[in-house]
Amino acid sequence: MFKHQIYFFRLSESFLPLFDAETSNFEQLKNKTMVDRRKFIKTSAFTGFASLLTKGAWSMTETGTIKGKPIVISTWDAGLRANKAAWEVLVSGGRALDAVEKGVMVTESEQNCCVGLGANPDRDGFVTLDACIMDEFSNCGSVAFLERIKHPISVARRVMEKTPHVMLVGSGAQQFAIAEGFPLEEQKLSSEAQKNYENWLKKSEYKPPVINVESQPVPQAVKQEHGPFAPYKLETGEWNHDTIGMVAMDTNGNLSGSCTTSGAGFKMRGRLGDSPIIGAGLFVDNEVGACTSTGQGEDVIRVAGSHSVIELMRQGLSPEAACKKIIERIIKIKGAKAKDIQVAFLAVNKKGQVGAFAIHKGFSYAIKTNEIEKLVPSKFIME
Ligand code: GLY
Repeated sequence: MFKHQIYFFRLSESFLPLFDAETSNFEQLKNKTMVDRRKFIKTSAFTGFASLLTKGAWSMTETGTIKGKPIVISTWDAGLRANKAAWEVLVSGGRALDAVEKGVMVTESEQNCCVGLGANPDRDGFVTLDACIMDEFSNCGSVAFLERIKHPISVARRVMEKTPHVMLVGSGAQQFAIAEGFPLEEQKLSSEAQKNYENWLKKSEYKPPVINVESQPVPQAVKQEHGPFAPYKLETGEWNHDTIGMVAMDTNGNLSGSCTTSGAGFKMRGRLGDSPIIGAGLFVDNEVGACTSTGQGEDVIRVAGSHSVIELMRQGLSPEAACKKIIERIIKIKGAKAKDIQVAFLAVNKKGQVGAFAIHKGFSYAIKTNEIEKLVPSKFIME
């Protein structure tokens, strides 16, 4: 009897769309699968039935977890390249944890305004990096204010695996990284970052973070009004995106996540955003789902953003609905100032459903599954 139930879930699950934001809890999903099952039994000949059974390389457990259907999602267009590296791990049956580390390492190695050592410096001219990682057992590790180390995400993983702690910062994190064999890189800005920094130095204006980093192009006058704490667009024309966050489910149905950034360009020295903070920039609960965020870190921290999304998903909300609720909470807190900030959340649940929501238009996320590989524009509240 039990075996048959599993078979029926396998069969009917193939009718389910991946993006089922409306199917917000397992009861609904089960009802849907039962309807599909009845339809299927009515219309299938025995031979077709048998052949479909043998094709079922993945299944849904009684708790609604999909197994054998890996998925990886990550923030922004750089996520497309990062997902490819994560996918190699997932498709060969590897752990989601390895996938999310390998994935964001790609972005850390690329020239990117806001991730890795090539990124824009703080206002004193130093690149300082933040990262965190979390696995299916609620193990987590984090580094912040880390300088001259190429892969902060791997140091965060080492903190998780080799120390009794969750977080190491600054020179202590660097000391730990060196002791673990990570090379100490040259203290030097990339040529792009040097150019951007020299431009910024012309005014050296520092304003509080009232920005809309990822939104659509805005008139020069508005850009000036918001100041250069983190310009809308860099002089190179590149968007000042701030983070790569990645969450993934492996073939065993286990979840993990990673998040890595240089933070806001030309930030006050020592400033941290949400990205290295477990519960803010990233949270994973293997019973429920995984969530990451991008945008104005201060405003993600004040609502314990990614953790809050997960708790709403635990109550039965779809990933998209949960992300939307926390975006609305931030908007409520910020009031009129919400027009000047961008925050976005991106989440996956145990059924492999994904969803995102942003304050402003312009956020997109990259998705890779067996079936699709693309950039998806997120829903948003404000133009
Ligand atoms: N979300 C990245 C930061 O605020 O630093």
